[in-house]
Amino acid sequence: MSEYILAKASQLNFYINIPLYHNIKDDTYVLYKPTGIMLGDMRISEGMHPHELFIKQSDKLTGLQEAQKGFNKQLENYVKSSDPAKVKETLVAVVDETLAEPRSGSLEGVSDTVGIFVSDYSRESGVINSLIDLSSKDYSSTMHSINVMALALKYSFHMNFSSAEAKLLGLCGLLHDVGKTKINNEILSAPRKLTDEEFAEMKSHTILGYKILIACKFNSKEIAACALDHHEKIDGSGYPNGKTRISQLPQIIGLIDCYEALTNDTRPYRTAMDAYNALNQIILKDVVSGKYNKNLYTNLIKSLGNL
Ligand SMILES: [Fe+2]
Ligand SMILES: [Fe+2]
Repeated sequence: MSEYILAKASQLNFYINIPLYHNIKDDTYVLYKPTGIMLGDMRISEGMHPHELFIKQSDKLTGLQEAQKGFNKQLENYVKSSDPAKVKETLVAVVDETLAEPRSGSLEGVSDTVGIFVSDYSRESGVINSLIDLSSKDYSSTMHSINVMALALKYSFHMNFSSAEAKLLGLCGLLHDVGKTKINNEILSAPRKLTDEEFAEMKSHTILGYKILIACKFNSKEIAACALDHHEKIDGSGYPNGKTRISQLPQIIGLIDCYEALTNDTRPYRTAMDAYNALNQIILKDVVSGKYNKNLYTNLIKSLGNL
């Protein structure tokens, strides 16, 4: 395998310490951008850069970390200037690229991303409401994670959580399904009901997510707990362990996750429901039968009140 890999076009302009290489023939690469400067600075004197630029395989994680910083700075500016379309575009890019490389050293980078949304300027701009797009056409795992994060932040603001608590719940929402990055894509996007075997594999995204997140350097164990327990139900009917004692944050994320999936699921065999039907038919039934905590359900409805 070559030591060099194609650099992602979306990350190119954020690299500072990562050198870029140009492929001149077969397996011959020459340095194009040295460390310490940005491509943008070079292009002023050299014109357009080659169509394809490469980085060393060993620089991949550091490159992603530099790109995350760049994306976060951009995101902060878009939030400050109240540009919802750009906010969404940048957020999708940073989450997409982080989830493509889900491991310790990369996942921690989205902590700053969520931090931007709990800042005062974000709360004032109402940017969270514009993120909760109930008729998303480009629905994907990334969009689902972003929507769950946005709903979790809205819930936190409604409950008057501190900024630190809101950031934690937002991060729990954004990363709750990170284990799905390890599940076969055919199973994730199967336009039909899954076989028992496939469903068993799908369920394992909880344990896989927990393992990924426990290896990360987050300040809280709740982030990994949310990945593990967000499909558990308090009557013991959930998975992967059939727990009845579930801590608060995984219960909140589980409820929001269910609401988001019902209102946004565009898989061909199931159509999306409107918010009213999701809350009053499906989810209420599960509250009455003892799967979800009634207080959390009531709080969720109230937090959605001004959507
Ligand atoms: Fe899940
Ligand atoms: Fe989910």
